Amino acid sequence: MRVTVIGTGYVGTVTGACLAYLGHRVTCVDVDADKIASLQRGELPIYEPRLSELLREAAARGGIDFTTELAPAAAESDVIFIAVGTPPGPGGEANLSYLESAARGIGAAMDAGRFRVVVNKSTVPVGSGNLVEALLREGIRDTRPSEEKKIHFGVASNPEFLREGCAIADSLYPERIVLGTEDERALETLRELYRPLTEQRFDPPPYLPRPAGLTSVPLVATTLTSAEMIKYAANTFLATKIGFANEIANICERVGADAKEVMTGIGLDSRIGSRFLNAGLGWGGSCFGKDIQSLLHTAGEYGYQARLLEAALAVNRAQRQIVIQKLQEKLFILKGRTIALLGLAFKPDTDDLRDAPSLQIAERLLQLGARVKAYDPIAMPACRAQNPELKIQYCESALDAVRDANAAVLVTEWAEFRTLDLAQMAALMQQPILVDGRNLYDPEAAARAGLDYTGIGRSTRQRVTPMRVP
Ligand SMILES: NC(=O)c1ccc[n+]([C@@H]2O[C@H](COP(=O)([O-])OP(=O)(O)OC[C@H]3O[C@@H](n4cnc5c(N)ncnc54)[C@H](O)[C@@H]3O)[C@@H](O)[C@H]2O)c1
Repeated sequence: MRVTVIGTGYVGTVTGACLAYLGHRVTCVDVDADKIASLQRGELPIYEPRLSELLREAAARGGIDFTTELAPAAAESDVIFIAVGTPPGPGGEANLSYLESAARGIGAAMDAGRFRVVVNKSTVPVGSGNLVEALLREGIRDTRPSEEKKIHFGVASNPEFLREGCAIADSLYPERIVLGTEDERALETLRELYRPLTEQRFDPPPYLPRPAGLTSVPLVATTLTSAEMIKYAANTFLATKIGFANEIANICERVGADAKEVMTGIGLDSRIGSRFLNAGLGWGGSCFGKDIQSLLHTAGEYGYQARLLEAALAVNRAQRQIVIQKLQEKLFILKGRTIALLGLAFKPDTDDLRDAPSLQIAERLLQLGARVKAYDPIAMPACRAQNPELKIQYCESALDAVRDANAAVLVTEWAEFRTLDLAQMAALMQQPILVDGRNLYDPEAAARAGLDYTGIGRSTRQRVTPMRVP
């Protein structure tokens, strides 16, 4: 099929590359001319593992190109995906201006030549599908008023569940595909588009073998509104689950239990599940915070106060401050002290810094008069470019960052930090204090290495204290 993907960010570029890999002919469109120019040169404006290789194979299979011109691409396409950003507005509501502009542009490009499906992949509040349809009609009326009745299209919602860092595997081997539409023809077109995925009928890339036993992917067909809600429900559930783990961890710390042990103990219950139960310094990223706020806003429009979601947001905000409190407990005074941040990206394997806890932590430390050194294997150039006001000293390596520091904070659990030589780290520091914001290290091993270790929700009590008989 001929496909246009509007927006070449984390979602659009991966979606375009995967669809072309499956054999569709894809054009990716963006208003950002610099991004398009780098993609045309074969350079990636974002970091996503294996995306360069996949794009090369996508070009050789279905074919993929990049342009700033929406009209010719949309006119030629059977399916047009909207994958533009939907950042939070001042009141928490999703800013739909990019979506609106894309929808108007598609409407203006549509003619009677073919049936088209316009698919919303951006995360958008309930009712956005209807908004897109209205804007498409407006676009048609503005450019081809006489053809309005002859131009046929369907609108669908196809929420995206990929995770940055493993976005290609998530796209080629998804756990489900959700299609929301009331238009039978649109549904059939999209079923066809996704058939190679739902039936797993494609040769996997050599570097990403198909998971053992995967023979098909469930396709969940729903109404437009349900599909829009599914995405919000999924993200707010995951954010709440992490918030729950953090809340329990905070109680564990006070009563002398170990949150890691507690989460293992509850996670083995199949009704609970072990994933997304890691206590730490809280979630970040471009989605959870914005999606909770957007759903709260929607609920508010209907006069409903979603208390659980409000709490999830509040718990997460407070969680980020815990690192500062722990540093103050250890060092008392932060003014003039040097704190090393290990990791800046909101999670490993991405350069994405949107709503990253590292930024708030760095900002607060600088406000309190501390000096901040940082090392991240991938996100330092993005951090430097996006946050010039943060006077962070960027370092060449983790050990370089901790050298002469009064304390180190593990912010992002990058794989290379797992194998860090903790004894060497302790020896290099002015004060060997480690706040493990992701509970990455074994407290006892860290202590043996000479570190004054604090995790999140991890008791410092001795594990087996012999009882004294009076
Ligand atoms: N990043 C994720 O992990 C993820 C996962 C699932 C869903 N989502 C959702 O997908 C959407 C896109 O997210 P993202 O992270 O890829 O965003 P992004 O900010 O990385 O990319 C959005 C792109 O859209 C472009 N754009 C804006 N207006 C445009 C227009 N009118 N025409 C063409 N291009 C335009 C921007 O220039 C930008 O390159 C959001 O709604 C997000 O919530 C994101």
